Amino acid sequence: MRSSALPPAVARYGSVLVAVLTLAFVTAGAAPTLAVTAERVTLSPTADPSTSQTVTWRASDDYTPVLEVTAAADADPILRVEGQRTGSTAGVHYRATVRGLAPDTAYRYRVGDADGGAFGDWRTFTTAAADPDPFRFLYFGDVQNDITAGAAPTVRAALADAPDAEVAVHSGDLVDRAEDDRQWSEWYDAFGPAATGGVNQVAAPGNHEYSGRNLSGHWPLQFPGAGNGPDDEALDGTVYHTDHQGVRFVVLNSNYAYAPGGDRDGWLRSQARWLRGVLEDNPQRWTVVTFHHPVFSNAPGRDNGPLRDTWLDVFEDYDVDLVLQGHDHSYGRGNLVANRTGDPDVQTGPVYVVAVTGPKMYRVDDSVWVDNGAEARVQRGQTQTYQIVSVDGTRLDYVAKTREGEVVDSFTITRDERGKRVTDTLGR
Ligand SMILES: [Fe+2]
Ligand SMILES: [Fe+2]
Repeated sequence: MRSSALPPAVARYGSVLVAVLTLAFVTAGAAPTLAVTAERVTLSPTADPSTSQTVTWRASDDYTPVLEVTAAADADPILRVEGQRTGSTAGVHYRATVRGLAPDTAYRYRVGDADGGAFGDWRTFTTAAADPDPFRFLYFGDVQNDITAGAAPTVRAALADAPDAEVAVHSGDLVDRAEDDRQWSEWYDAFGPAATGGVNQVAAPGNHEYSGRNLSGHWPLQFPGAGNGPDDEALDGTVYHTDHQGVRFVVLNSNYAYAPGGDRDGWLRSQARWLRGVLEDNPQRWTVVTFHHPVFSNAPGRDNGPLRDTWLDVFEDYDVDLVLQGHDHSYGRGNLVANRTGDPDVQTGPVYVVAVTGPKMYRVDDSVWVDNGAEARVQRGQTQTYQIVSVDGTRLDYVAKTREGEVVDSFTITRDERGKRVTDTLGR
């Protein structure tokens, strides 16, 4: 035998080594057995986040989903809400909405298998106050590319800078390839479970959330919306509004290029009609609208004329405060020239913003702004930013910053008995 030619110790340990390697090979070849009870736990707003909360999550198993909610004080009884299976990607997705909560109250919650008894970690959320109350929210442009190395540092800087933020707004292109589960993992890792499972995610789909003409299979499972959008199946879940402590947040879907049957006009007009109704009947002092493609493109060679033709008048007619957009991988902020005042630092009317979180960046160009009756007050190419918006009574403060802490833009909007003013505060 060949082995007999080896020294006895080598032959002995050699067989052990072969056995270990064989065992390792067999183990590696087997299906992963580690059960995931709850991952990608995500909070999505309902129409009234002061009394209800939607939670979505994914698990490795098909089980009987349940959401358990308790007031932060341990002694309170547990509310158990039956969840529903919503679909599958690399795992099984579930959703549950708890109702009848008290406003402005901290709750603990966990999700899991009602029959098996296995649950994910306890997490916390706080319901919105029933009335206007000061709070901060974060706004993120395209995360999209090289997420872990290139975008996550900006996301983490934002979360560290505004750990008290109560809402996260995403203006689309969260990932680069709509169906790439690894990119979604990177996105969830960038924000972390405390953010995605701790505050409501108000997310608009970008063109990169579409594969061909179809919305990512991940999207509706992770961002189901508030269920109060237009009566249009193609827009189901991606168009909605929610009110948070004096702010009406509205999510629109600007991906008219993927309208069923090529009916771009129908896609845009049904949202414009719905938006007019939502803004006509708006009890909130402040309005923030988010969607992906800018009405005033901020990078060379880009333009979304149909969107501007259909939606711009609605934003202006109802004096939306912030129009938060993405897609142009650069920073830009401006307004209609008609909304200038005698003071060069002050405008009235809506503020249009484009921002990018991730490391894919374009140069800037203001020709679409200028050619369409608008002006870009601040433009910055090759710059990744995050934005913090603070709302306090008659005043809204906005700041855009790099992860190093440089302030790229800042302004204040006031709405009081003197009317509305948007004042540049950059450099002050
Ligand atoms: Fe993008
Ligand atoms: Fe895009």
